[in-house]
Amino acid sequence: MNRGASVRFDPAHRLRGTIVAPPDKSISHRAALVGAMAAEPVRITNYLRAADTHSTLRAIRELGALVEVHDEEIVVRGVGLREARETHGPIDVGNAGTLMRLLPGWLAAQAGRAFTLDGDDSIRRRPVDRIAEPLRLMGAELDPTQGRYPPFVVRGARLRSIAYDLPVASAQVKSCVLLAGLAADGATTVSEPAPSRDHTERMLAAAGVGVHRNGRHVTVTNADELEPGPIHVPGDLSSAAFTIAAGVVVPRSRLLIRDVGVNWTRTGYLRILERMGAIVVGDLEEHLDDEIVPTEPLTDLDVTAGPLVGTVVEADEVPLAIDELPLVALLGCFAEGETLVRGAQELRVKESDRIAGVVEGLRGLGAEIEATADGFAVTGTGGLRGGRIDSGGDHRLAMLGAVAGLASREGVEVVGMDAADVSYPGFMGDLGALA
Ligand code: S3P
Repeated sequence: MNRGASVRFDPAHRLRGTIVAPPDKSISHRAALVGAMAAEPVRITNYLRAADTHSTLRAIRELGALVEVHDEEIVVRGVGLREARETHGPIDVGNAGTLMRLLPGWLAAQAGRAFTLDGDDSIRRRPVDRIAEPLRLMGAELDPTQGRYPPFVVRGARLRSIAYDLPVASAQVKSCVLLAGLAADGATTVSEPAPSRDHTERMLAAAGVGVHRNGRHVTVTNADELEPGPIHVPGDLSSAAFTIAAGVVVPRSRLLIRDVGVNWTRTGYLRILERMGAIVVGDLEEHLDDEIVPTEPLTDLDVTAGPLVGTVVEADEVPLAIDELPLVALLGCFAEGETLVRGAQELRVKESDRIAGVVEGLRGLGAEIEATADGFAVTGTGGLRGGRIDSGGDHRLAMLGAVAGLASREGVEVVGMDAADVSYPGFMGDLGALA
């Protein structure tokens, strides 16, 4: 496998300036899929131009949607809820777990048609039994490799509505079942053990679908068609999380990150940072109980470097900060005292095993960090020596290594830095502008 270029990140004296957060990956995937499922053209502004979200555009084109890519917007001319076209060969999802888990929700409703999904080496290690089970209960057929992994075939059917209890808090699985529920024969309910990101619910509400939350239960009513109107994708907090972390730990830094999406189901990281004493100021969305709003809130985040203290992250907070937990480990190295993350065993089935990758990676840079079955424990030492870290092809580990380098005493060489292109192709440019 081509590991890609090694890039060295030297210690920075300070970071200053303003950047715009890159477009949200989760919301871009959903916008393209909803566009493909709609009958009328959907205009999408600020769609993420990155490897993962290109995979989604390629997939929906193969399924019959027309996609026009312009500088300022993309326009998706969809095929409707039940008219996806059979593809000639397997649909290649690349590295995109969200595409692999959401798309089958739509494909399951294509009665009499079959679709094969496959992806890269990392995708072939990621479980899909979690979507196979509910989709089978709804009447579709799925046959994951070894019962669990891609490649797999989805055979569409006329779907039954179900009430499904998610065994893990996963927005991807929740979204898959909700998308399938659009074409089922009644109302479909998904119950989640803890709240997870609700972008799908909001986008469906904006598309005129009946979608309601009652405590941990989300119900979607079947629909004849989706009418989403124009979709604007906000900035991605999960990408901005890296520059935020850099601004917090590189001494004397002060940054402004503009247009960050701050849907409360995504801002767990900012609440963790606040407990750690970090100075990050912005207008965050308040916790919404049962309300599903059809919009995504945005703010500018003002980040100032300062001292940190350790914190404990418990299981109920994990889904609201899942992709940012590697950065919590990094910040823990710079904090006073211990930082603990518990109940985060899902990290083991991300683009890589992010518990093993973070612990080995940061230890190699001088961190005092231990892996646990469901997270990690970091003892802050006030800084990091530096050294070499291998992304293993995981975009978030590559960017973690870069931030570690800027804040380290000796600098960090990141092997496989090109993995960042999966979600944040402008990352190096943004760091350069701030340094
Ligand atoms: C995502 C949900 C999360 C997250 C992933 C994107 C989404 O995965 O880790 O990067 O877009 O719904 P899970 O839902 O599997 O936890």
